[in-house]
This record gives sequence, C-alpha cells and structure tokens, in this order.
Amino acid sequence: MTAALAVTGLSAGYGSAPVIRGISFEVLPGEIVALLGRNGAGKTTTLLTISGLVRARAGEVSVGGKAVAAHHPRAVTRAGVGHVPEERALFANLSVRDNLAVAGARRARDLRRVLELFPELERLLDRRSGLLSGGEQQMLALARAVHQRPKVLLVDEMSLGLAPKICQRLVDILRRLATEQGLAVVLVEQHLFLALEAADRAYVLHRGEITLSGTRAELAERRAELEAAYLGSVTAGAAAA
Ligand SMILES: Nc1ncnc2c1ncn2[C@@H]1O[C@H](COP(=O)(O)OP(=O)(O)O)[C@@H](O)[C@H]1O
Ligand SMILES: [Mg+2]
Repeated sequence: MTAALAVTGLSAGYGSAPVIRGISFEVLPGEIVALLGRNGAGKTTTLLTISGLVRARAGEVSVGGKAVAAHHPRAVTRAGVGHVPEERALFANLSVRDNLAVAGARRARDLRRVLELFPELERLLDRRSGLLSGGEQQMLALARAVHQRPKVLLVDEMSLGLAPKICQRLVDILRRLATEQGLAVVLVEQHLFLALEAADRAYVLHRGEITLSGTRAELAERRAELEAAYLGSVTAGAAAA
C-alpha cells in the first residue's frame, strides 16, 4: 500500500544548529501514528517542517506517493495535508459558525456534514470561539481541519489541558475518520498512555532523531524503555500545568 505520508531524511532547525536530524517515518491510509518524545525533542518542528512552515534543510515529504514541494505551505495543503497546531489557531472573536465558514463550511450542506461528525458543536454555533471550553475549542479546531477533507491530518498536542473523557471523545472521532475515510493521522502527544491507546504505531523522537518505533503491541512490551525515553515531558507537562 502506498503511504499516505512518507517522510524521508528530514532535517530542519531555526538557527545554525539542526533541531531535527534525518527523520524518516510513514503513515498508511487509515492509520493513526503517534509521534512521542519529551519536551523539546522536536515534535512540533517535525510537523511544521512537513507543513512547509519551517524550511527543510534536507529530506523529502511525499503525500500519496508524490513528493510535495518543500517550503510551500499551500502546496502541502493542496496535496491533502491538514494541520491542527498546538495553539489551535481559531479566530477567538468569531463565532463557531464563522470559524467553520472561514474554513469553507458555508453552505447548509457543509455545515450538516461537520455537525454529523461533531454534533457537540451544534448548540455552540453562535458562540464566540474564544468563550468555548478547551475541549470545545479543540473540537472546533479538528472540525475545521477535517472539513477540508485532508488525506493526512497532523495534530499537535491534542490532549493538552483537556479532561481524559474529552480526549477519548476526540480520539474516537479521529479513529472513525481513519476507519471510514482512510484518513492518515499523525498524533503528536505529550500524554504517553493516551497516545499508546489511540495509535496503531508510534515513533519516539529524542533530541531530533527517531530512537524507537513499533506497533502499539510492540511498544506495550517495551514500556520501561519507552517510559525512560519519554520521561521528562510528562514531568515537565505536570509542572507547567
Ligand atoms: N521558533 C523557534 N526558534 C528557535 N528555536 C526553537 C523554535 N521553536 C522551537 N525551538 C527549539 O527547537 C527544539 C524543539 O522544539 P519543538 O519542536 O517545539 O519540540 P517539542 O514539540 O517536541 O516539544 C527546542 O529546543 C526548542 O527550544
Ligand atoms: Mg511541541
């Protein structure tokens, strides 16, 4: 099967020192893959580089077997990559309805399609998105991205600050999209246990390199190793909360 997303030898950084170095991984259609690692490991940078928002110094990104032009965020979006950034990127002063409209869900038919997947948003349509709870905002951010019908969805720190029940609901929606529409999901997660439950496979980033990878079952067996590689982000996350 052709990978929905294939990343090969990707390197990028901000100043002179590289932040990610020679990263390679792939996600098949219908697969949820977690990208794990402690704070500062380079997870967000990896997603930004895939999206063309940070310049790749080396490497290649292909979507559905076709190389996408690096450094061109629009080309990446057009190729079918959606990105839900850590800060969710909503228009706080606009209503839920208008946030969806900006993402292209203007007609009643579009809105119905969104609400079928995200029924919780219906009673919130006329509320300013800045007034929503964290979970509702994350749901809106996902709804906006999903409405563009991406083939690949990059989701950064989806669970940050959200109650477990809400995280589970969001994961269920992603799973449904993966199963029913073949959406390929890259889930960057702080929350190791949530990620391991949600994902089919996972890659662990350590100081900008992938040091561990495997299926959910393989990683469950290597839990001690995984926790050792991962510890730090969990502690730092708790300290920051
Ligand atoms: N805009 C930026 N300018 C300079 N350095 C940055 C910037 N964003 C992130 N970094 C650095 O790059 C490294 C990786 O950060 P990031 O990709 O955000 O990690 P993660 O998402 O895994 O926590 C960190 O050392 C961080 O300080
Ligand atoms: Mg990050």
